Amino acid sequence: MVISVTSTPGALRVLGIETSCDETGVAIVDSERGLLAHQLHSQVDLHAVYGGVVPELASRDHIRRLLPLTRAVLQDSGLQGQDLQAVAYTAGPGLLGALLTGASVACALAYGWGIPAIPVHHLEGHLLAPLLDNSEIRFPFLVLLVSGGHTQLLLAEHLGHYQLLGESLDDAAGEAFDKTAKAMGLGYPGGPALAALAATVTASRLRLPRPMLDRPGLDMSFSGLKTAVLTALRRADLPHAEIAYAFEEAVAETLVEKTRRALHLTGVKHLVVAGGVAANQRLRAGLQTMAQAQQVAVSFPALAFCTDNGAMIALAGLQRLQRGWVPERPPQIIHAQARWPLQGVGVH
Ligand code: KG4
Ligand code: ZN
Repeated sequence: MVISVTSTPGALRVLGIETSCDETGVAIVDSERGLLAHQLHSQVDLHAVYGGVVPELASRDHIRRLLPLTRAVLQDSGLQGQDLQAVAYTAGPGLLGALLTGASVACALAYGWGIPAIPVHHLEGHLLAPLLDNSEIRFPFLVLLVSGGHTQLLLAEHLGHYQLLGESLDDAAGEAFDKTAKAMGLGYPGGPALAALAATVTASRLRLPRPMLDRPGLDMSFSGLKTAVLTALRRADLPHAEIAYAFEEAVAETLVEKTRRALHLTGVKHLVVAGGVAANQRLRAGLQTMAQAQQVAVSFPALAFCTDNGAMIALAGLQRLQRGWVPERPPQIIHAQARWPLQGVGVH
């Protein structure tokens, strides 16, 4: 059942909860004043010793953090549960156990406060994140979504309608960064570490292939680059920084060129870049230069909102609430799906 909330007077405030992987994020967004408070706990240290996320440990830690972080955002914003109109939570995709912690707490809070709980698609959260500091972004726009789990070019036609134009056929860009960093002994999470190493040089003697640029279409492939890096690592004459530079350059140039083609194909004049890899400075610079040449506006989320966070989930929940796309109140069903295609998230 969907209820209409168009008659709600005044501002709408939504608490957002994100627990799909290794970050516990909680935030409150207000329809008139924007982001009121956000808190984030990263589990990076917890998983670093294992070289990757351990799902069971992730769930346990989310459980420990959720209520203190929720109390903190209420305190920071000077609000109480009764001041909120909905609780939004990441319902998928992600680690099922981790998702269930956030979904259960969100539904319990919503139940207690007598307000709806709104399930949000994690990737919709990412692609709406640039709206947190630029409310001028209007549909339709092109999205380059580059995270640890996804690399996709999407045409965002309107809220809930995202047409997939192309994607990585193997590793996501973030995954390629992480795996390559691991192969280079840079630890976890690899993306930022590899980028930092690459930034210590200004050129590289190594040139890696630009995968699938010679083929038409908007699909991509990044797993071959890792293999090319493994080969390069055997060369004694190449410092690791130059290898990191060449890898980053190949990924960034490939993403920029595929995005340019997608802009050309769709004719849209606004590009939104989202997901953890949107934090990469080389990619940002390349996309900015390309967008300028194409006379296309480009929006990136603030660095803090590129990677997983509660604010993007609160914002996606608010957008749904404003359209009356709200499940019945109080929540009867807890939604959590490890796999969930972004297409078809129109109305719950
Ligand atoms: O969006 P996100 O927080 O989690 C997923 O939903 O996957 O993205 C995390 C990914 C990781 O693969 C991480 O290595 C990558 O984003 N990442 C970066 C940078 N910062 C984060 N990759 C390249 N350069 C960065 N500066
Ligand atoms: Zn994410």
